Amino acid sequence: MPDTASKPTRSSASLSDTILASAKNVQAVLDGRSLSESLAATPAALRAPVQAVVFHVMRRLGLAYEIKQMLVQRTPPNAWFDAVLLVSLALLDTAVEFSDETNPDHTARRDVPLYAVHTVVDQAVNAVAGQRTLQTYKGLLNATLRGFIRERKAILAQAKENPVAVFNHPKWWIAQVRRAYPKQWQALLAAANRPGPMTLRINARRCSVEKLLAELDAAGMPASSPVPGAVVLATPRPVTSVPGFEQGWWSVQDLAAQQAATLLPVQAGMRVLDACAAPGGKTAHLLELADLELLALDADQIRLDRVGQNLQRLGLNSPKVSMLCADAADLSGWWDGRQFDAVLADVPCTASGIVRRHPDIRWLRREADIVKTAALQRRIIDALWQTVKPGGHMLYATCSIFPQEGEQQAAQFGVRHADAIRQQAPGQLLPLAEGGQVAGDGFFYALFAKKL
Ligand SMILES: C[S@@+](CC[C@H](N)C(=O)[O-])C[C@H]1O[C@@H](n2cnc3c(N)ncnc32)[C@H](O)[C@@H]1O
Repeated sequence: MPDTASKPTRSSASLSDTILASAKNVQAVLDGRSLSESLAATPAALRAPVQAVVFHVMRRLGLAYEIKQMLVQRTPPNAWFDAVLLVSLALLDTAVEFSDETNPDHTARRDVPLYAVHTVVDQAVNAVAGQRTLQTYKGLLNATLRGFIRERKAILAQAKENPVAVFNHPKWWIAQVRRAYPKQWQALLAAANRPGPMTLRINARRCSVEKLLAELDAAGMPASSPVPGAVVLATPRPVTSVPGFEQGWWSVQDLAAQQAATLLPVQAGMRVLDACAAPGGKTAHLLELADLELLALDADQIRLDRVGQNLQRLGLNSPKVSMLCADAADLSGWWDGRQFDAVLADVPCTASGIVRRHPDIRWLRREADIVKTAALQRRIIDALWQTVKPGGHMLYATCSIFPQEGEQQAAQFGVRHADAIRQQAPGQLLPLAEGGQVAGDGFFYALFAKKL
C-alpha cells in the first residue's frame, strides 16, 4: 500500500469509532430511516468521516451484502454487528482495490474513503472488541475479513452473477431503469454510484460568476463555470469554507435544478406561486431573476422555515414574498381564488434522479412508491392548474428519472386538460455527462400554457 493511500482521506477521528457509528447509520437505513435523520443523531465530531464512509457503503451495499452472504454461514442475531460487517467489508474491498497500482483509478479516485488494508481489519476488530454487546463476535469478524482478503478474486467473480451486487441498487430499481432506458441503464446505474459535483448558483443580485471565480482562485479552490450563472467546484467543500456563503453570493444547487427558474416565464410584477417550495432553492432563484409577488407554499412547516432562512441569507425577503404551510392539492385550505401568472410545481417524487447525492434513497424506496408518488403528483398538479390564469404558465418538475413521474405524468396531464398547451421544455434530463461536460442531476421538466 503506497503512502498516499495508507492515510485516511477525511479526518483524524479514529477509524474504530467511525466504523461503529457508520454501522449505526447503515442499521438505520436498513430499518427504513433516512441518512439525513440518522446522521443528525451522530456525534458532531464524527459526522464528517461517518458521512463519507456511510455514503460509500450505500454505493457498495449490494456487493457488501453479497460478500457477507458468501462468507458468513449464519449471521449472528445482532443488527449492529451485521451492519459492522457490511461497513467493514465495503471499506476493505475498496482498500484492496485501490492498493493495486495497476488499477487505472489508483491515483485519480479520491472521492472514496481510503484506508490501508491492515488498518481496516485492525480497526474493525478493535471496534468490536471494545463494545460489550459486540465483543463476542470479534473472532468471527476477524476470520471473515481475512477470509475475504484471501478469497477476494473468487468471491468477486461469483458476485458478478448477481445484478444487485454489480450495480448496487435493488433488483426492482435496476429493472425499472433498464425498462425505461434500454441503451443507457448501465451507465445510469454506474453514474448513481459516483458522488455529484458541488455546484453553486450565483445570486445575480449580490455577485457575478467572474467575481466568485476570482475569489475562489485567490482561496486556492479550483472551479469553472460550465453554464451561465453556475460555478462548479473541482472538490466539494463545507459551504462555510467557500467565499461568499454568509454574504449570500451563491446557493448550492445542481445544474439541472438551476433550469427551473429560467424555464418558467416570469417578469417583474407577476404573481407567482411556488407550490412545493421548501427548502427554497427555486423560490430564491425566481426572486433573484425578477421582482415578483411570490407565494411559497409547502406542506412541511419545518422545511418551510428553511425557505425563510435561505431568503434571509440571500437578501431576498420582502413584503411581496409570503409563505404558507398547506397541502397544495387542497385548494379550499389555502387558495383565495386569485389566479397566478405562473406556477412552479416542483412536486414530491421518488428522488430517483438525485441518488448520487442521497445514496440511501435507493435502499429506502419500495417499487410501490412510484405509483403512490405519481398519484400524489397528479392530485397536486390537477388542483394547481385551477390556480393558473388563462394565458399563464405552470412548470411541472421532478427530480426523478422514472417515466411514471416524468413524461407519462406530463402526457396524461395534457390529455386530462384540454386547455393545457405543452410548451418547449427539456423533458427528461439524465445524470450522464456528455462530451466531458459536467452532468447535472436527473430531472424532468414539462411546461404548460393555459389557453386564453
Ligand atoms: C422536491 S421538494 C421541493 C424542492 C424545492 N422546490 C426547492 O427547489 O428547494 C418537494 C416539496 O414538496 C413538499 N410537499 C409534499 N407534499 C406536498 C403537498 N401536498 N403540498 C405542498 N407541498 C408538498 C415537500 O415538503 C417538499 O418540500
